[in-house]
Amino acid sequence: MSHPNEVFIANGQSHVFQFHDELNAEGQAQLKDQASAIDLAEIDRLVETLVRSNNGGNDAIAEDLEPAPFIPLPKNGGDSGQWQRARKAGEQALRDGRVAAFVVAGGQGTRLGFDAPKGTFPVTPVEKKSLFQVFAEKILAAGIEFGKPVPWFIMTSIINHDNTIAYFEKHNFFGLAADQVQFFSQGLMSAVDANGKILLADKDSIALSPDGHGGSLRALVRSGAIDKMKAAGIDTISYFQVDNPLVRCIDPEFIGFHLLANSELSSKALPKRDAGEKVGVFCEKNGESVVIEYSDMPERLASERDANGELRFRGGSIAIHIFNRDLVERLGSGNAEIALPFHLAHKKVAHIDPATGEKTEPAEPNAYKFEMFVFDALPFAENPVIIETAREDDFSPVKNAEGSDSPQTSADDQLRQFARWAKAAGIEIEADDSGLPAVKFEVSPLFADTQDRFVKKWNALSEKPAIADGTVIS
Ligand code: UD1
Repeated sequence: MSHPNEVFIANGQSHVFQFHDELNAEGQAQLKDQASAIDLAEIDRLVETLVRSNNGGNDAIAEDLEPAPFIPLPKNGGDSGQWQRARKAGEQALRDGRVAAFVVAGGQGTRLGFDAPKGTFPVTPVEKKSLFQVFAEKILAAGIEFGKPVPWFIMTSIINHDNTIAYFEKHNFFGLAADQVQFFSQGLMSAVDANGKILLADKDSIALSPDGHGGSLRALVRSGAIDKMKAAGIDTISYFQVDNPLVRCIDPEFIGFHLLANSELSSKALPKRDAGEKVGVFCEKNGESVVIEYSDMPERLASERDANGELRFRGGSIAIHIFNRDLVERLGSGNAEIALPFHLAHKKVAHIDPATGEKTEPAEPNAYKFEMFVFDALPFAENPVIIETAREDDFSPVKNAEGSDSPQTSADDQLRQFARWAKAAGIEIEADDSGLPAVKFEVSPLFADTQDRFVKKWNALSEKPAIADGTVIS
């Protein structure tokens, strides 16, 4: 193979090696390593189609949109028989060992301002368990309930890969078997300037960032995770984000709906709280299901109301999906014809000015980053299914340090859930109008991770603990 320098010269990117001769051997090797991992043809294509035309990949995205229908919950008019059949089918798939859990945890977590892998952030109200521990215990509980351990795949990125693994090792994988948890790192993309020139973060390194959660599909294939699933007889992948402690990592009803419909990609929707809620929206465009990101949704459509006064585009996407393994293989195989599109993000990226060799901290966005979004898989999927879920049982993410979707709101939502379960079991708990209990207590996922299970387990306890501030039911 030719030295990457030559390839970079041929592609008008010679400046990447401009400071090469000033570097020590280690710096030279690092730069060469990073450079050889870059797909210059892909960068060229993206610069041509996105940066030069400056359309961000979003041109005309919001034209001809209709709201996508979703299967309602029984309490909102859904057919309870259908939900029961789904649950049975999902439980059978879990007993058969066909399901893996998959979390995408490669993001930078900048909004939260937490300087460690986001999954290690403490979230539960009493024990301050981390997001990763909550998920681990839910996955462990599902394995125990259905008699087959559920394998868990965790996508990291170069930013947090080693720290994530070290965290799990330190905590003995929270009771899971070490080989039940598999880590792999997602791909990277180089940032470019407005002229399509690749930016140097330092003289010996390229400005690289993760390729978006949509990069998970090709990372699943490239890392060999998909082959491992195939070998283990897994065809159903339960996908969730790292920021949401309420998520039902393994949800038999959801799995069952997916399997009974022969769906390649299923999604959970919840009615948006208000027109401005920052969630993607399930829509139909030219007969295909799509998710339109909140930032791409025209205000006019976001706030449109139907005859009942409800938001017309109300199916919020909370980034909980089930993928069929074949779809991941198809989309992650590297065939450009059927790959996810890239989106453009205009960001501030500190870089080395090729003219002076000095590091510059831009005051305004100077760089374009390329990211894929996993929900762009939807139009490629056969028989997509969207089911409604209840916000209080599936979604309360930690995104911001304060205000909405913060550690405080998420801990309160967990408390409300525990209080609802307690009430359903006949336990008297004082709570305010929003359902927030007066005492802070916690239910371990290993005791129960649904209301039904809680009631059953609670009723079976010979000695029932008094619930007070700091009580942990485990
Ligand atoms: C995301 C969705 C939005 C959805 C909302 C629900 C996008 C663009 N938007 O918004 O439609 O309603 O969640 O909470 O996704 N990640 C990676 N690698 C990356 C980038 C992100 O693994 O390169 C992971 C993060 O670790 C996190 C998840 O993807 O688990 C979400 O990323 P984030 O950028 O925080 O999405 P949101 O803007 O919150």
